[in-house]
Amino acid sequence: MDQSSVSSTPARRAIVLGGKTGLFGSTLARTLRDAGWIVHAPGREDVDLFSEDALAAYIDACEPDMVFNTVAYTQVDKAEDEPEQARRVNRGLPANLGQVLRTRPVRCLHISTDFVFNGKQSTPYTVEDTPDPQSVYGSTKLEGELALLERIPDRAIIARTAWLFGPGKKNFVQTILGLCRERSSLNVVHDQVGSPTYTVDLAAMCLQLAKHETSGLYHLVNAGQASWCELAAEAAALAELPCAVHAIPSNEYPQKACRPAYSVLDTSRFTETTGITPRPWIQALRDYIFHDLWNTELIQNTSQHSR
Ligand SMILES: NC(=O)c1ccc[n+]([C@@H]2O[C@H](COP(=O)([O-])OP(=O)(O)OC[C@H]3O[C@@H](n4cnc5c(N)ncnc54)[C@H](OP(=O)(O)O)[C@@H]3O)[C@@H](O)[C@H]2O)c1
Repeated sequence: MDQSSVSSTPARRAIVLGGKTGLFGSTLARTLRDAGWIVHAPGREDVDLFSEDALAAYIDACEPDMVFNTVAYTQVDKAEDEPEQARRVNRGLPANLGQVLRTRPVRCLHISTDFVFNGKQSTPYTVEDTPDPQSVYGSTKLEGELALLERIPDRAIIARTAWLFGPGKKNFVQTILGLCRERSSLNVVHDQVGSPTYTVDLAAMCLQLAKHETSGLYHLVNAGQASWCELAAEAAALAELPCAVHAIPSNEYPQKACRPAYSVLDTSRFTETTGITPRPWIQALRDYIFHDLWNTELIQNTSQHSR
């Protein structure tokens, strides 16, 4: 074959905002790099995300095909006391990003949350269901979705996800395993039910959506549902930590922000677009514990198994 006739597809280029330090952003940046993308993952010190001029200059210098925004004000309870700070990040950044991308042929995938729903439903929330956030965090995240969609409706994907666990940064599962090592029993709420999701699987789902010329709302979570108590008990059991996990109602663990009692997300639009059905969260949790955490102090010396 005449080698001169072989054309190689140029690597796709991405910016992952939050990709340097975020729980999800860091895994997304790695996943894209592993898939051959050229990835820029700026931290706070690299670009002022809230300045239109600075963000535009950064984007022009990187020449991305796609900008992924994982940056958010994610402290759900603290947001109740700092609504303006939360709004600045959760609405202000997607608005600024949308403004900059309006005049540039760049797509955007923005991460949002199950907390845009009020939790009063008892069947999984679809992308057609009406949001009704009950917290400052949820309200400001919804404002961010709308601000981006308003500015670049045909080039924006809003990917709502939930209950993240994964490598690289403290998360609920890691916290629970730490407590299970120190205590013989633990109380965890049982009356909030959601969609536990592995960041590695979420990143793979985002990569799939990036390959499709699509836009609008998507729900991206692992399959199945669990209460916080079930998730904690399953993690402790997998790690073989001898700690009893007791179910308690939310009113015995008061928190400042109101959380949805039920926020399971329906991923059928993702499956319709990509042909892929996300795997169950329990399977993903096994991978997290046995691949990502196995050699950490959280579960070292606690199991009879050798792996
Ligand atoms: N974690 C969950 O369970 C969960 C559930 C549903 C939806 N989500 C959504 O998923 C996305 C990722 O969440 P995550 O848990 O990965 O978040 P995270 O670990 O808290 O990371 C947030 C990222 O945003 C950056 N950031 C925050 N404020 C900033 C600011 N003012 N200027 C510049 N950078 C700023 C942080 O940088 P620094 O490290 O410098 O602070 C960090 O890189 C968010 O959109 C979140 O709403 C998360």
